[in-house]
Amino acid sequence: MAAQTVASTTESTVDLGPATALSCRECGHRVPLGPVFACEECFGPLEIAYDFSAYDTEELRKTIEAGPANIWRYAPLLPVPADVATKPNINPGWTKLVKADNLARELGVTGGLYVKDDSGNPTHSFKDRVVAQAVEAARAFGYTTLSCSSTGNLAGAVGAAAARAGFRSCVFIPHDLEQGKIVMAAIYGGELVGIEGNYDDVNRFCSELIGDPAGEGWGFVNVNLRPYYAEGSKTLAYEICEQLGWRIPDQLVIPIASGSQLTKIDKGLQELIKLGLVEDRPYKIFGAQAEGCSPVSVAYKEGHDVVRPQKPNTIAKSLAIGNPADGPYVLDIARRTGGAVEDVNDEQVVDAIKLLARTEGIFAETAGGVTVGVTKKLIENGLIDPAKTVVVLNTGDGLKTLDAVAGTGLTATIRPNLESFREAGLA
Ligand SMILES: Cc1ncc(COP(=O)(O)O)c(C=O)c1O
Ligand SMILES: [Zn+2]
Repeated sequence: MAAQTVASTTESTVDLGPATALSCRECGHRVPLGPVFACEECFGPLEIAYDFSAYDTEELRKTIEAGPANIWRYAPLLPVPADVATKPNINPGWTKLVKADNLARELGVTGGLYVKDDSGNPTHSFKDRVVAQAVEAARAFGYTTLSCSSTGNLAGAVGAAAARAGFRSCVFIPHDLEQGKIVMAAIYGGELVGIEGNYDDVNRFCSELIGDPAGEGWGFVNVNLRPYYAEGSKTLAYEICEQLGWRIPDQLVIPIASGSQLTKIDKGLQELIKLGLVEDRPYKIFGAQAEGCSPVSVAYKEGHDVVRPQKPNTIAKSLAIGNPADGPYVLDIARRTGGAVEDVNDEQVVDAIKLLARTEGIFAETAGGVTVGVTKKLIENGLIDPAKTVVVLNTGDGLKTLDAVAGTGLTATIRPNLESFREAGLA
């Protein structure tokens, strides 16, 4: 079956494949597809509504399996035109699902432990997935400048995608990010602006810029294009299930900054169930934060439905969002699926980065240290069942956060002769 467009022209006129409208997550109010993100009735977040009714399950499965080795194999389930694979794009996705047997032995997992290693994306984080969707929406709405507020990885993903797809880019980050993140964001030739403040200040500034003539004609991937952007995270759910032989794992451990990725992975799993591509079986979603920025974890443990903002102070800078937009939805999902939200301190983050590297040869950024550290903690406190399948996300590359493991280096420095080698105790 060819990827097809089932857009209802009575609702929307742009061609974004099976996407038909924007629908409010809170009250269900629908508006045509456009660069808007908040409901005009209740200010709730807008999400993409689809028409998947024309799909036959087995034909869809065949289409996906015959598709390219990137996220566009799932184009029939995304807000993109059917011919998206032919457009200039950095084509992220189809990253490795690593069976982590050595780590499983260390952690006592017997039911199968996997690391979904998204450091393998073009700009070395999962953000390439979400930006790829936003680029298609930006094209459809006629934007020529791409922008974002970022904790680092998103800025690099926007820079690269804009360079390849022919957009101008101007992105905003907290001025004091890791050098690896700054270079990765600047190298693609767009404008990179450091803001004196934390991510929440950057985000507030971007919201002001959108309402100002200076920001007119700009597509902010995670603000006015957020409904499209967010859908990119569903591809993580699709890939994990397909790579497991079209099966939902029992337990998933997912990092939380704004909480968007976690909520969309849940949405992706629900879609696969509804489409009949996987068996409808229970799964548990666990959210992972750093103790120095743990507003969702604190709300979870205190039994609250709302998230109280925090001022971040952690080495896990990519996850340092003190006022997470999707926090309440993360709480819903963790509770509905029987999962949990947990946090680890910076020392545990570093230990977990080293543990993953030492056991599996995967060098994670601090966000990966958070998920591996939280997985260990949840096994120890009995919330993750080690006899069942666990999938842990590594969403970024350790080369971007080298400072976190400063001090890791040479075992010895020797003269170029055997005597010196023996003296160093290496023989
Ligand atoms: C490496 C990494 N992992 C996870 C996240 C969390 O993303 P979200 O805001 O969707 O929760 C981010 C966000 O910047 C990130 O950079
Ligand atoms: Zn609403």
